[in-house]
Amino acid sequence: MLELINIHKNYNIGPTCIEVLKGVSLTIERGDFLAIMGESGSGKTSLMNIIGMLDKPTGGDYLLNQKNINQLNDNEISRIRNREIGFVFQSFHLLPRLSALDNVGLPLLYRGMREKDIYQQAKTMLSKVAMQDWAQHAPSELSGGQQQRIAIARALVGYPTLLLADEPTGALDKKVSQEIMDLFTQLNQEGITIVLITHDPDIAAQCKNQLELHRGQIIQRPPRYLLPRWHYSSILTRAPLALQSK
Ligand SMILES: Nc1ncnc2c1ncn2[C@@H]1O[C@H](COP(=O)(O)OP(=O)(O)O)[C@@H](O)[C@H]1O
Ligand SMILES: [Mg+2]
Repeated sequence: MLELINIHKNYNIGPTCIEVLKGVSLTIERGDFLAIMGESGSGKTSLMNIIGMLDKPTGGDYLLNQKNINQLNDNEISRIRNREIGFVFQSFHLLPRLSALDNVGLPLLYRGMREKDIYQQAKTMLSKVAMQDWAQHAPSELSGGQQQRIAIARALVGYPTLLLADEPTGALDKKVSQEIMDLFTQLNQEGITIVLITHDPDIAAQCKNQLELHRGQIIQRPPRYLLPRWHYSSILTRAPLALQSK
């Protein structure tokens, strides 16, 4: 679905140039649920911005469905981004003056869809994230976990093929984080490809694949390293593969 080849990203601050991504290569297949881990400052958000086409790499190639993004103009890039990619952020980024329903429908409004269709599709998405009873509430009337559900519904309302989430549980407590992870897991089982940035090993362990960034480079570790003990035992009862590798 998506391939990054030797991606570099530099930022120029005045006369100094900092190298933030130093040759990152990765492949994302349809149906993946990938965790990108790494300490603060390791380049996770920079990498996500490139995957999400919010930013261009300084060097390297980005292939989406076998098409090289470098060869597209800005209009084509933003059209692909708006159609194919949904974003979820740590701090929700909901518009405070709009109801939950209007927040969810906003991306469709930008697409010029008819109001009736917008509301229908937005309502469907609110139900998907179990927030249908909160449609008319403002974000300030909702808990953090509920706001993140609204943000996830907004990310999904245009039926993107890829969902990018940058520390989506970073502002939530453990119990609510788990509820959000259960929702992501369900969405992934329904077929949406998810890339999730986190520095929480318990969260990463629930994704299908994990990779770790360290100072702008990918370091690969065996998945088992990431599995906390409680999760390991639950996997052993479910997954024949994990048994075989034991
Ligand atoms: N727009 C920018 N301009 C300059 N430096 C940046 C910019 N964005 C990120 N950086 C720097 O790049 C490094 C990696 O940042 P980031 O990708 O946000 O890492 P992470 O998400 O892993 O914490 C940091 O040192 C950060 O200060
Ligand atoms: Mg970050």
